[in-house]
Amino acid sequence: MTLAGKVALVTGSSQGIGQAIVLRLAQAGANVVINYRSHPEGAEETLEKVNAIGGKCYLAECPHSPRGHTVQADLGSVNMVRELMTESIAHFGKLDILVNNAGIEKHAPFWEVTEADYDAVLDVNLKGVFFATQAFVQHLITTKRPGKIINISSVHEDLPFPNFTAYCVSKGGMKMLTRNLAVELGSLGITINNVAPGAIATPINTKLLNDAEKLGALLQNIPLGRLGQPQDVASLVAFLASSEADYITGSTFFVDGGLLWNYQEQ
Ligand code: BGC
Repeated sequence: MTLAGKVALVTGSSQGIGQAIVLRLAQAGANVVINYRSHPEGAEETLEKVNAIGGKCYLAECPHSPRGHTVQADLGSVNMVRELMTESIAHFGKLDILVNNAGIEKHAPFWEVTEADYDAVLDVNLKGVFFATQAFVQHLITTKRPGKIINISSVHEDLPFPNFTAYCVSKGGMKMLTRNLAVELGSLGITINNVAPGAIATPINTKLLNDAEKLGALLQNIPLGRLGQPQDVASLVAFLASSEADYITGSTFFVDGGLLWNYQEQ
């Protein structure tokens, strides 16, 4: 599988799953735009790792070396999302792959959720994804090229997650965004799919990872008996971004160690 000659933007790629996706796409030969909101040092670390993968720029027409480029943008702001898209396209001359990875979650019982927290979660996880995807599609239409969109969703696009209702609403929305756009964008040669991780060892889970009791209870629910690693998610994203997945659109692929469908009676 190769992504040589392709350019990918991965939102929220200064850490965790996003960083692993950037590295996996770069290993496959893609040029990558690394986006971050508040961790410039994480973005620099990602860029250094991309550089360490080495190699030349795979785009014949691309004057840029190294093959990574960092851009600061808060996905919760549609203006910043648009600037991110413009800057990404300008830097490498085009975009072929968009990975909507940036996401946040806030813990609170439903009856205590504030409007500010609801907006923060929905703005990053859904509104930002909506308008980043729109700008990407506009670019593909203008340049008359096909493209691949991969959304990092969650098992919680289907599975209830008490105390994270806004997060579940955002991921449920992402599920329908993907179903809808698969139909609407199919004739343009644009595919869109969701990768839905379960419990992956990343910064979004820091609290949980540091709570032995909660972690133990969670592991009981995972048939494969361990948390996932960011690389477990990244390899599927690389496949979906490649031409080997050209006939795949409108689907969700779970990377969860069996968590979603686990039901047992003692
Ligand atoms: C959430 C994590 C959670 C995991 C499994 C993810 O989507 O971000 O906080 O542990 O799902 O429930």
